[in-house]
Amino acid sequence: MSLLDSLQMKWERVDPRLRNTIEALGKKIPLNRMIRKVPFLEKKIEDEIGKILKHIHFSAPYLDGVRKFRELPRSGLAPETILPILESISEHETKKWQDGFVSGAVYHGDADHIQFLNKVYSLFSQTNPLHSDLWPSLNKFEAEIVAMTADLLGASHTGDDICGCVTSGGSESILLAMKTYRDWAKETKGISQPELVLPVTAHAAFEKACQYFKIKKISVPIDQNGMISVADVEKAITTNTIALVASAPNFPHGIVDPVADLARLAQENQVGLHVDACLGAFILPFVKDAAGLPPFDFSLTGVTSMSADTHKFGYASKGSSVILYRSPILRRFQYFVCTDWPGGLYTSPTFAGSRSGAVVAQCWAAMVNAGWEGYERAAKEIYATTQRLREEIERIPHLHIIGNPLFIIALKSDTLNIFSILGHMAEKGWSLNGLHRPNAMHLCVTRRHTQEGVADRFVEDLRQSVQMVEREPGKKPGLAPIYGLASSLPARGLVGELLRRYLDRLYQV
Ligand SMILES: Cc1ncc(COP(=O)(O)O)c(C=O)c1O
Repeated sequence: MSLLDSLQMKWERVDPRLRNTIEALGKKIPLNRMIRKVPFLEKKIEDEIGKILKHIHFSAPYLDGVRKFRELPRSGLAPETILPILESISEHETKKWQDGFVSGAVYHGDADHIQFLNKVYSLFSQTNPLHSDLWPSLNKFEAEIVAMTADLLGASHTGDDICGCVTSGGSESILLAMKTYRDWAKETKGISQPELVLPVTAHAAFEKACQYFKIKKISVPIDQNGMISVADVEKAITTNTIALVASAPNFPHGIVDPVADLARLAQENQVGLHVDACLGAFILPFVKDAAGLPPFDFSLTGVTSMSADTHKFGYASKGSSVILYRSPILRRFQYFVCTDWPGGLYTSPTFAGSRSGAVVAQCWAAMVNAGWEGYERAAKEIYATTQRLREEIERIPHLHIIGNPLFIIALKSDTLNIFSILGHMAEKGWSLNGLHRPNAMHLCVTRRHTQEGVADRFVEDLRQSVQMVEREPGKKPGLAPIYGLASSLPARGLVGELLRRYLDRLYQV
């Protein structure tokens, strides 16, 4: 048994009350740094991290089989040489997601759709929205992407001038919104120690924003069913609060937070409310009636900003999202302007300077191509597949579905190690997401899973995986030990170190 495994087992045996105390302490004391001061343990940990990384580290065969470039080739390679290499790599990487073995990741993926987007990309591959004098079409596309997204998210139900920007993805949309609230709160309320109140289930991009922009994160816990208590949010609001956060739905469990209650709180306290609809923007408007979902968008006056990812269920290729604000006044806090630079007067609406106009064009094309009916059809199919999966999964013993899934099915187990089940699913070819706090795993249902036979295969593989863990509970396949570790706080610092090393490895040639 490895050191990390035995650490984990010992941790699981500690009395829960003591564990809570240690967890509380662990938040104050960087335990991993203390352990690292002991040379023997330091060496052991290095060995363990090395072993785990080797285990995680890529099984893709082309890593060994394809020529590596540590320096530029002296003479450039001809397209006839490069293209076959790329074609073989792409072919190798495509099948798994195409066949629906992957949670989220590729949200559309039909061959004719990809071909269409690629054609649009090629028409605009040399363009850059920074130069609106050269390519005014890109401003038209961006303005229309924002307008269409705003319309989908309740703009027509309010007299306010809902506005926004096109960004590079959900994280950028969220980071921009948080920077905006920080600067807005500083200028309009004089807040210099900004605080953000958010459910623990809000996307990690909010934590990233807090780290980058020096905002204090106040997390609100969830109950057994993945719900936050509005009273907890209310208690967490102080005179330093700049904004509240709600997800529609959140990434881990696919649950929509009580947006209407939070909107009321935000209005009463005159703070912002950001609704993260990165995942839900192009699904919820079409299934809200069938799912009995209460309002979650700009139709609620307290909602002051929303993020909506066109590169997820908007079916654009990767690299676009929309950040929306209730008013242009708020949006202005997002903009960057520089008037004293020798390079001239400079301004950019988002973090990037130069950007790809091709990404913008294909996003616009994906939206007008899908249209209201296209999005509605896809959303309804995804929702129906999810409900079918849910019914089947509810018949599998040991598994428990968190909340009422709309298109994300999060599973936990009180009796079996869910990460071992996840490990067996991985061995059967599935690429699902491991979650912790509570330990769980999820499948984000996309159009890939609405294909004939995919849902049945998922249920059958899941049933078999549960049986395998039932028979051999001690076996921990795949990444099960690592997920297990991350769920115990004393080791989380070590897992953090592991993740940094993992990123280092990604840059090894
Ligand atoms: C709810 C939610 N918000 C934000 C994000 C971040 O989006 P991105 O990965 O495009 O930065 C995600 C990504 O999965 C998400 O699910």
